[in-house]
Amino acid sequence: MMPEDLNTTHLTAPAQPHVTKGDAPEQPWQALLDSAGEGIWGVDLEGRCTFVNRAALRMLGFDAQELIGQNMHAMIHHHHADGSVYPAEDCSVYNVFRRNRPVSNEVDHVFRKDGSYFWIELSAQPILHLDKVQGAVVTFRDVTQHRMAEQALRRSEKLAAVGQLASSIAHEINNPLEAVLNLVYLVRGADTLEDARHYANLAEIELVRVADITMQTLRFHRQQTAAAPVNLEDTITAILRLYASRFPARRIKVEQYLRASHEPYLLEGDIRQVLNNLIRNAYDAMPHGGTLTIRLHSATCLKTSIPGVRITIADTGTGFLPAMRGHLFEPFHTTKEVTGTGLGLWITKGIVDKHEGRIYMRSREGQGTVFTIWLPVQSAAAAVAA
Ligand SMILES: Nc1ncnc2c1ncn2[C@@H]1O[C@H](COP(=O)(O)OP(=O)(O)OP(=O)(O)O)[C@@H](O)[C@H]1O
Ligand SMILES: [Mg+2]
Repeated sequence: MMPEDLNTTHLTAPAQPHVTKGDAPEQPWQALLDSAGEGIWGVDLEGRCTFVNRAALRMLGFDAQELIGQNMHAMIHHHHADGSVYPAEDCSVYNVFRRNRPVSNEVDHVFRKDGSYFWIELSAQPILHLDKVQGAVVTFRDVTQHRMAEQALRRSEKLAAVGQLASSIAHEINNPLEAVLNLVYLVRGADTLEDARHYANLAEIELVRVADITMQTLRFHRQQTAAAPVNLEDTITAILRLYASRFPARRIKVEQYLRASHEPYLLEGDIRQVLNNLIRNAYDAMPHGGTLTIRLHSATCLKTSIPGVRITIADTGTGFLPAMRGHLFEPFHTTKEVTGTGLGLWITKGIVDKHEGRIYMRSREGQGTVFTIWLPVQSAAAAVAA
């Protein structure tokens, strides 16, 4: 939030309500308000509408006469989107004219005359006259479309993560299950009890692997809202276990240099997703084998001196193809037409940003790619959650 005195509108409060009406001469500033594309309304110290522009009336479905003089909160902001009552005192606009606290770019909803609601982004400033607050002016725009598009993206983001995880689990579970099937077959035909016991032991080992993968998956997917110290060595090792059979099958060698003295505060599920996305991309980029190198060490940010950890994930694969140039962290950019959704890196960047970290990429076509992530030991997200 900006300092209050820097963000204050010096408008003179109208002595009388002004209405957009054909039968009264319009004030010049009313014409100005009406020319704006954004919706604008003003309220007095009681929250009563003092002016409203044409764009606001169009979006809200009211006539000016129906709003002027009425309590705006009671007219258009009376309930939360979930149907519960929205007390005026909880409304951020109330804080503007009662406590001189401006609001900028807040997403909220308002009701139309017909009872339907839509999502808006609003800013509100106090109206001052001789340094005393007289009311507030609210500007808003309809962001419903934008919000719906964002929600659709979030849904596909989750679906993509689930799909990716499901295929890696199916793959990893399939191998030990095939082995168990073979061993059961051998138990049936075993000549001696000793042979049968031996095969049963082997089957048990394979089943423990299946259980282990399932456990990892459950941990992976458990929703977590609070950041907690994460041992990244353990996290990386657990993710690599999901690829235990696929890497050797493709002749991919894994080199790990994991030594961090810090355990950063992170949302572990999110960070697993980040690492899994990057490791999965590296795997996809090495269809004919290669080396995956994962490094983890403590690293202080050179610019800010904030302590943190650095993770690098390097592959000797295809490198980024020209089609991806300029679209690195944008959603839906993929070169894997059938198998990819193009959401992995976008999700990754979002999670790193949420942790106030940084992510960089270097790549050379035909030679490989290095992703570097830096995460602070403590982030504001972690502080809020802690
Ligand atoms: N390590 C890498 N080496 C080469 N190209 C890469 C690498 N990582 C990502 N890319 C390129 O970036 C594109 C986008 O990656 P991203 O992870 O966002 O989506 P995706 O892997 O295509 O699909 P998914 O949503 O399933 O992850 C990939 O299609 C690929 O072309
Ligand atoms: Mg990917």
